[in-house]
Amino acid sequence: MYDFKIEAADKATLYRDIASALEGLIAGETDAIANMANAAALIFEGLPDINWVGFYRNVGGELVLGPFQGRPACIRIPFGTGVCGSAAATRQVQRVEDVHAFESHIACDAASASEIVVPLIRDGELLGVLDIDSPKKARFTEEDEAGCVKLGEILSRVL
Ligand code: SME
Repeated sequence: MYDFKIEAADKATLYRDIASALEGLIAGETDAIANMANAAALIFEGLPDINWVGFYRNVGGELVLGPFQGRPACIRIPFGTGVCGSAAATRQVQRVEDVHAFESHIACDAASASEIVVPLIRDGELLGVLDIDSPKKARFTEEDEAGCVKLGEILSRVL
C-alpha cells in the first residue's frame, strides 16, 4: 500500500511534496499507463479545489483520453481545439482563469471553471498533455504552473 498524506503550508512545499511522492510512485516502473494512473490519483488527492485531473495522449496527431480521476470526459480532441488541443498544438502551457471565456473550450464537467494544461514532451516528441480542472475561477497561479510543469517533467521521463 502506498499511504500518502500531503498537507503543506504553502504551494511551493505542496508541489515539492507531490513531486517527491510522484518520484516514489514511478520509481522502477516503465509502464506508461500505470504511471499515468497513479499520477492522476496522486495529484487528485494532493491538490485542493480540483474536480478533474488526467492525461490525453498523442495518438497519431490526435489527443486521446488516458488515465484520469473525475467525471467521464470526452475521448478524442483534435490538436488546436480546446484548452488541451491548444497546449498540444503550441506546446505551451495553457493556464486558463475562466474556461467559459476560452473560445474553443470543451466542457466535460459543467463544474469546471478554470484549467491548466501542461504539454508532456520528451526528446522533442509530444507525448500528450496533463490536464487539471478546478471548479474555482482563477484557481491556478504562476506557482501552480511552475509546480505542474515540474510534475510534467518527471512524468515525461516515464511515459
Ligand atoms: N476542457 C478540456 C477538455 C478536457 S476536460 O477538461 C477533461 C479542453 O477544453 O480541452
